[in-house]
Parts: sequence; structure tokens; C-alpha cells
Amino acid sequence: MKLEVYKNQEEASQRAYEIIAAELNNNQLHVMGLATGSTPLALYNILVNSDLDFSNVSAANLDEYKGLEASNDQSYAYFMREHLFKQKPFLKTYIPDGTASDAAKECDRYNAILKDHPIDIQILGIGSNAHIGFNEPGTSFESQTQLVDLTPETIEANKRFFESANDVPKQAFSMGIASIMSAKKIILMAFGTSKAEAIRLTVEGSITEDVPASILQNHKDVIILCDEEAASQLKK
Ligand code: GLP
Repeated sequence: MKLEVYKNQEEASQRAYEIIAAELNNNQLHVMGLATGSTPLALYNILVNSDLDFSNVSAANLDEYKGLEASNDQSYAYFMREHLFKQKPFLKTYIPDGTASDAAKECDRYNAILKDHPIDIQILGIGSNAHIGFNEPGTSFESQTQLVDLTPETIEANKRFFESANDVPKQAFSMGIASIMSAKKIILMAFGTSKAEAIRLTVEGSITEDVPASILQNHKDVIILCDEEAASQLKK
């Protein structure tokens, strides 16, 4: 894994932008895997204000809350429209359907989409418990898209976007760990002290399903872009 530490989110996001721009300009970017949350916001802002053209690039998102319609302003579909797609059109955009009543069928549908759209660059954030997508500690490294139960820790962390913790959905559809690992290139970003322990375990810890992001040590093209706070617990 490569790790680069920047002064702040803005500078790290600028670096992510440059990697994306280089792949796009070399005609190597056909499908992007996208994440939600506060972590990629600065990057999306840079993309929106850039002259990069994504009209020949498709996007597949990592996850979606179970039970939320795409029109719900807490859904990840809504988030992506607001922060990226509205201003920067992509060829096609895919995200699990939070309202699907048959979860198994929805997972199969999304896995088929991912099979048809191999991801060239996957953008990742990380949970404070080192989850990626919504793959919580204990998730099998072999997992494909699945319906997952959110941990109390994740519900607590994400309640800031809802009126109360009770309003946070308890389940989500998420690309699995194996789905994420099949991306050709992965850019993981992490900002703030709340991510420092997760980054330490991801980079310096052993590879274990208790630390979902630790599997990234086995991927041949991963770059972690951190701010100084998120890197503050690393030894070197
Ligand atoms: C959520 C998302 C993840 C995201 C993580 C971190 O649980 N499912 O994809 O990486 O939170 O969120 P944030 O970037 O807001 O810290």
C-alpha cells in the first residue's frame, strides 16, 4: 500500500483528483466506484469545478441504506445527485435500490451490474471501526454485495445526518469486500483524529476480518491519502 500524508483534506483531495484526471486522460477510466460520507466531499467539489468530462464514464456506488427511497434526502442516491451527478453528468450511475423488497434479488442485480462494469478506480472512506462501504468488522473477505446490519458504532457516527439515532436505518445494502478488492485501483481517504486508530490498524495491523480495511494490504494498487490527524497514530 502507498500512503501519503497531507496537511488537510483539501490537499489530499487535490492529489486524488490528479490521480483520477491522469487515468481519465489516458483513457483508463471507464467505471468509477464512488463513496458517500464527508470524506469524499472535497474531492467531489474539485471534480465539479474541474473541466474533466465524465460523460463516457459510468459510476457505481458502494452502498445504500435499506428502506430509503432515492428521493429521501438522507439516501446515498440523493447525496450523490446533490454533490456530484447534478453538476457533473456521468454516462450511467448505479447504486443499490434501498427500497427493494427482495434483498437477495437486489444483491444479485447489483452484483451483475458490477460484473458488467469492472471498476477502474474505487474511492473509499473508512469508518472509525475500519469498515469500508458498510462492511462492518467480521464481514467475510469473500463477500459480494449483501444486506448488512449496521453496528451501534456506525449508527452513532452517522446519526449526525439524521434527526436522531432512531432515524438512522439499521441495515444497508453494501458492495462486499471481494467486490471492492476487484477494483483495479483504490484510493482510500481518511481525515481527522476519529480515523487515526482505523488507519493505524489498516496500515500496520495484521490482516483480519475484524479490521475490514486491513485486506487492502493484499491489493496491488492502493493509495491511502490522509491528513496529519488521521496519520497521527502511525509509527513512521
Ligand atoms: C459510512 C459509509 C462509508 C464511509 C464511512 C465514513 O458508513 N457507508 O462508505 O466511508 O461512513 O464516513 P465519513 O466519510 O462521513 O467519515
